[in-house]
Amino acid sequence: MSKTTVFEGPIGVLGLGVCVPNRILSNADLEKMVDTTDEWIVTRTGIHERRILEDHQVPSDIAYQAAKRAIEESGVDPSEIGALIYCTYTPDHFMPPTACILQHKLGIGSGLCYDMNAACTGFIYGLQNAYAMIRSGMAKKVLVIGCDCASRIVDYTDRNTCILFGDGAGAMVIGEVPEGRGILGNMAGCDGAGAMLIYQKVGACAFPMTKQNIDTKDRYMQMNGREVFKFAVKIVTDAVEAALADAGLDVKDVDLLVPHQANVRIIQAAQERFNFAEEKTVITMDKYGNTSAASIPLALDDARKRGKLKVGTTCALVAFGAGLTYAASIVRW
Ligand code: ACO
Repeated sequence: MSKTTVFEGPIGVLGLGVCVPNRILSNADLEKMVDTTDEWIVTRTGIHERRILEDHQVPSDIAYQAAKRAIEESGVDPSEIGALIYCTYTPDHFMPPTACILQHKLGIGSGLCYDMNAACTGFIYGLQNAYAMIRSGMAKKVLVIGCDCASRIVDYTDRNTCILFGDGAGAMVIGEVPEGRGILGNMAGCDGAGAMLIYQKVGACAFPMTKQNIDTKDRYMQMNGREVFKFAVKIVTDAVEAALADAGLDVKDVDLLVPHQANVRIIQAAQERFNFAEEKTVITMDKYGNTSAASIPLALDDARKRGKLKVGTTCALVAFGAGLTYAASIVRW
């Protein structure tokens, strides 16, 4: 490996792009598939509809579109991008890494290129990996993509999970930004004691797919929603407070809370604890559901379109997910 020089300048977002599939799965559609109601889903989760990949599409199709848009907005030549981090738990294949398929398709320069699975925390983990790479001098510009298509591993006969998830992709080009902007503070963690609270038993190497298990519930995602909910309510505020401390800022310095879009009640609990006005919080789960690693960039894109996110806006990004993973970053746009 070549000798690197630590980079001391501000590191932040040069371009943001997103993509969701066109196909809509509404609560009314789900009422026909499982024993649920629109009223239950809306009051318990805040979700009205979600996007689902078309049958002929693969996850990297929407990831490609999101990445292309982020690169275009950044104005950076793809060959100048020195690393690609693809955050997902629903890759196109176990092998090769989906990152490598996208590196070739997008014309990204050579460098570290890998898939990273931190479930719904994936995008913030990816952002922090990019930050560390640039800070250390290993790369000058990094493409981070968060893409998940849970529709491919969700059991549409299980009302505990199928109502929650939607498919989507978001991407950012990370690099040097003007003074006063960029990533100001980070925290990341994991509580592996809760590893089996959200899991897919069959399909990897502990339990490879067999003729016997291919038609059982074990090949789909399973979740202890109640336990994850309790964990999430506590960790969202703890993580934001820790990232703010790392940035040397206080909660009153935050202009926009950009939380992982899993359940509106988890977000409301954080709003109450921080005494945060509703208009300072981004909510997109009503139209997208939980898009896992795409959740944070989709929320930022939505906030920007609504005029809530502008140059100079101080954002608190926070996510949690299977693992149990969690992370927060403070970013001045
Ligand atoms: N429609 C109607 N009734 C339902 C449904 C449904 N879709 N789902 C569950 N119920 C029923 C249950 O069977 C239960 O009935 P019972 O009282 O007769 O036993 C009742 O509703 C209450 O069930 P709970 O599980 O207690 O419902 P809760 O209010 O906790 O909501 C939910 C469930 C939405 C899953 C919630 O727990 C949640 O959001 N958890 C967090 C999930 C999460 O954040 N995951 C993020 C990570 S995902 C990742 O990383 C891949």
